Amino acid sequence: MEERSQWGTRAGFIFAAIGSAIGLGNIWRFPAVAYESGGGAFFIPYLFALLTAGIPILIMEFTMGHKYRGSAPLTYRRMNKATEGIGWWAVLVAFVISTYYSTIIAWAISYSIFSINLSWGTDTESFLFNDYLEIVEVPGQFGSLVPGVLIPLLVVWLIVLAILFRGVSRGIEIANRIMIPTLVVVFIIIVLRAITLPGALTGLNAFFEPDFSQILNPQVWIAAYGQIFFSLSIAFAIMITYSSYLPKKSDITNNAFITGFSNSGFELLAGIGVFSILGFMATQQGVGIDEVVAGGVGLAFVVFPAIINEFPAFNEFFGVLFFLSLVLSGLTSLVSIIETYVSGLSDKFGITRGQAVIFGGGFATIVSLVFATQGGLFFLDAADYFINQFGVAALGLVEVILIAWFLRKLGTFKNHANEISDIRVGSWWTISLGLITPVVLGYMMYGLLKENLTRSFDTDTGNYEGYSDAFINYGGWSVAIGALVIGLLIGFTKWKTKPEEGDYDDR
Ligand code: ALA
Repeated sequence: MEERSQWGTRAGFIFAAIGSAIGLGNIWRFPAVAYESGGGAFFIPYLFALLTAGIPILIMEFTMGHKYRGSAPLTYRRMNKATEGIGWWAVLVAFVISTYYSTIIAWAISYSIFSINLSWGTDTESFLFNDYLEIVEVPGQFGSLVPGVLIPLLVVWLIVLAILFRGVSRGIEIANRIMIPTLVVVFIIIVLRAITLPGALTGLNAFFEPDFSQILNPQVWIAAYGQIFFSLSIAFAIMITYSSYLPKKSDITNNAFITGFSNSGFELLAGIGVFSILGFMATQQGVGIDEVVAGGVGLAFVVFPAIINEFPAFNEFFGVLFFLSLVLSGLTSLVSIIETYVSGLSDKFGITRGQAVIFGGGFATIVSLVFATQGGLFFLDAADYFINQFGVAALGLVEVILIAWFLRKLGTFKNHANEISDIRVGSWWTISLGLITPVVLGYMMYGLLKENLTRSFDTDTGNYEGYSDAFINYGGWSVAIGALVIGLLIGFTKWKTKPEEGDYDDR
């Protein structure tokens, strides 16, 4: 097996890990998820999930990658032959995410350009759906490719594949060293402007005001776990892959804390920025926050352009900054998502990085074209919802149960991490992973599964954002189950390399 690539410096790895963690999930998803899931009360499940699952799993995945020195499939295989398929399942979930994640970055590129002369006009909703996305009326139809989305999408793929082509230290590391500090500066400018806007306080009140009636709702807990996993880039192969490029002599625990807290800090900052801006909008229009808040696509591409129109000064400038922050944060995460399959393919099939980038990245580019069609938004919503709940969150649960209960590796991993790290982990870590996460997440997942499986498949109750049940159920489940089944099947195929050979620690 070829000598494994390595990060050039410790800071390089930390920048890359933070770059992976901070992404569209922080700016585009977190503020709305928090608001919809009980506002201030959401911080209880959020912090609980961060401290008992997020950071402990991050430490665990850093340890796995460092110890077994492989992509997720190779790491799982070296841990126990029978579990390779789980690694592929994680890689396939990452593959699916990469195909639509790239599309959202493409929209953000278009919107950075639209900002220059506020070309979205006054009716930003109609602009997004009719003029830009040229959306079909019935979810499930493709329509034709939309050139306005297709062109920036191809640009996104070109950029990320070029970065990946250059390798770990010369490509990924350098890109993150440039993009992450730029992102932080851009974002601080946005937040400083946001909190000084008239009405900002109203928005912040709405954001932090707790609605305790939500606290026992399983949906809210799954939302918190899902958010933490997605946002920290854990459970879907990324952090295992990135830490497999760590030199032997590396810190694990401290790096995990730095990554975890930077990510949550940025997430909180994004929440503060976004809600200050929403407060401004609500005050301008004399309405409540609930009338201006929107999740996901609506927030970034309908509400924000409308607010940018109303900014007191430098509208175009702030428009460009906001969409640029989405582009920068998205690109650094997308690179890490794709690296999971670049690494997995070259480990298993013994192909070079360049070949893996062309083959894996090329295939993902082709699949992503689905989201550049007129029906793309509907497919994107269905894929995103299901792959998060029954891909990322389910994987987190399976990973923890497998490692803690079946393979009983927590003790070995703890020793491995403690031997080389500044901070030593103890019973907090073991109890979180061995008991709290499997029990709490398992219980919540059971509730969620029951709810999704007992609801009718074909009748139109508009369960999810008003789409038909049939479309969401068949489409969403096929993607989520498809990733699992295909992943397990790849796990049974023959290796072109020798996975048991190589310089790794299998004590
Ligand atoms: N961790 C990345 C994000 O938050 C995937 O968007």
